Amino acid sequence: VPPLKDVLGAQGFEHVGVAIDQRETVGRPSALLQRHFDAFTPENDGKPESVQRVEGQFTFANLDRLLDYADATGTQVYGHVLVWHSQTPAWFFKDGDRDLTSSPADQAILRARMEAHIKGIADHIDARYPDGDSPIWAWDVVNEVIADGDTANPHDMRDSRWFQVLGETFVDEAFRLADRYFPQQQLFINDYNTEMPAKRADYLSLVRALKARGVPIDGVGHQAHVDFARPVQWLDDSLTAVERLDPSLLQVITELDVSDSKENNGADVSNGTVPQHSPAMPEGEAATEVGYYYRDLFAMLRRHAASVESVTFWGISNARSWLRTWPAARPWEEPLPFDDDLQAAPAYWGTVDPA
Ligand code: XIL
Repeated sequence: VPPLKDVLGAQGFEHVGVAIDQRETVGRPSALLQRHFDAFTPENDGKPESVQRVEGQFTFANLDRLLDYADATGTQVYGHVLVWHSQTPAWFFKDGDRDLTSSPADQAILRARMEAHIKGIADHIDARYPDGDSPIWAWDVVNEVIADGDTANPHDMRDSRWFQVLGETFVDEAFRLADRYFPQQQLFINDYNTEMPAKRADYLSLVRALKARGVPIDGVGHQAHVDFARPVQWLDDSLTAVERLDPSLLQVITELDVSDSKENNGADVSNGTVPQHSPAMPEGEAATEVGYYYRDLFAMLRRHAASVESVTFWGISNARSWLRTWPAARPWEEPLPFDDDLQAAPAYWGTVDPA
């Protein structure tokens, strides 16, 4: 089957990526990765809890293994993630047992921690690559800063601990620090549900404000954890909205997968709602439907190839998809181009379909 990176590369996408951990650096998964992808995102190994579980003690063993693999194979890396509310140790937001408040003294503590975290990662990368030839081409600077529903905050920003202590401009500060310590990398804001019309408006509102304040943001990320109930048109509209907001902004599809749990539709499943397999969809037919979704999705994405710099699939095969286990067991999910046996699935054929 033709390499995805060749097919999509010829259509104008600079990078074709996949989320990985160590398991994809050896054997058949590695061979599949090398044939079809030219970039990867560390699925978990670059997150705050992975690199700085204890304050001041940076642990890069897992990330380094992936960077070693990138160096050995000439694969590009999409950095994920510098500032996030999730998979971030609680100590970031505490002073001993006390929760940090929005007092100037506490804000100074959290600002210093943000800088130490970003600088700690950058120092390690700079030491690995003294000639500046790091395989990391981009970073998710902030992730998931917009809420799914309404909040009292500007742009309906998520009421995260980052927001509670520092306010909206924690995003500005994250980008300014990332720009200082990663001057060569493309710097992205990233979020999920960016195709949902209400969240799209909030996301655009924040990005517009960041641009107006001169924040060094290079582009806008769309996780694209989508499902059958979300018309492809919605993501189309979001991509167009960003292009109209500022034609110089890059766009990236950062975590693509297609769920066949219709009830997943835009719900905040982190509160314990468990998506159910669509009862009308027998096994087997679901994979075909996912294939058609990919066909329509890529027919749309190709029309945005001028602004969409990269497409990253969230896992190398269905067996490795986070949807199989999150937020509860969902063994029926077949969200990715390669099946459990690493063979091309309908989603692969939909992706390369010239229709
Ligand atoms: C997921 C990983 O795939 C899982 O292995 C982990 O248990 C939880 O995080 N949005 C993101 C990603 O930005 O980091 C998440 O990755 C999926 C949702």
